[in-house]
Amino acid sequence: MSRIISIANQKGGVGKTTSAVNIAVSLAVTEMKTLLIDLDPQANATTGISDLTQDSPATVYDVLIRGIPIDQAITKTQFDHLDLVSSTHDLVGAEIELVSLMAREYQVKNALEPIKSKYDFIILDCPPSLGLLTINALTASDMIIIPIQCEYYALEGLGQLLNTIRLVQRHLNTSLTIAGVLLTMYDSRLNLSKEVAQEVESYFEDKLFKTVIHRNVRLGEAPSFGKPALLYDANSTGARNYMNLVEEILERVR
Ligand SMILES: Nc1ncnc2c1ncn2[C@@H]1O[C@H](COP(=O)(O)OP(=O)(O)O)[C@@H](O)[C@H]1O
Ligand SMILES: [Mg+2]
Repeated sequence: MSRIISIANQKGGVGKTTSAVNIAVSLAVTEMKTLLIDLDPQANATTGISDLTQDSPATVYDVLIRGIPIDQAITKTQFDHLDLVSSTHDLVGAEIELVSLMAREYQVKNALEPIKSKYDFIILDCPPSLGLLTINALTASDMIIIPIQCEYYALEGLGQLLNTIRLVQRHLNTSLTIAGVLLTMYDSRLNLSKEVAQEVESYFEDKLFKTVIHRNVRLGEAPSFGKPALLYDANSTGARNYMNLVEEILERVR
């Protein structure tokens, strides 16, 4: 059965893209057939594994706005079980262009319909806003993973995100659930990280993933080489954290 998972939080720089790329790659190396879809005009997920990808004839923009079938935008990567739908800067315009479309919240859901049974997992990397691209992702998804950076103001804006999730559940997608909340950039030397972890745990309880993503320079460096952490340095803390997370995700979806 295929599972569609959005990685979303309207705050920028919390680790959405790093998580989307490394979760997708870790799923693929455990032989789960996986599709990563870059829904951010900044295209960081695309460039983060672009070293491994064929040139894509079409992008997510063509699929959502020009109505091009998604199979024409799917490219292979160097990982046997991982495919990619890439993004480009064009997607900036989609946020506005979507407004005038019929069923504007359902464009991603409808685009995925013909191909979703081919995959075990479809991972959507969302942009840093609660606009129509993120709403489309949540409408299409079975689950959301919310990355939270262990920083000052970590919980700021979460109320708004949870409210958006509730609205989507009520009006657009009754089957959407929160797969889990993920602590990112955790630094065990800092009291602040521990305080944020405690605060998040007391709020989300068992929704908080036991696996924590530590602050790890390899995770920051890898994208500049167009590689996910598992290829850049498979033994790095970052690569191992994401492999452990994927084990936990697989347990939760079973
Ligand atoms: N665990 C981590 N340790 C160190 N750097 C990280 C970690 N996670 C993300 N980064 C870096 O932090 C920045 C923001 O992460 P990113 O995944 O792009 O966030 P978002 O997609 O939410 O904007 C990037 O430069 C990324 O390489
Ligand atoms: Mg991002």
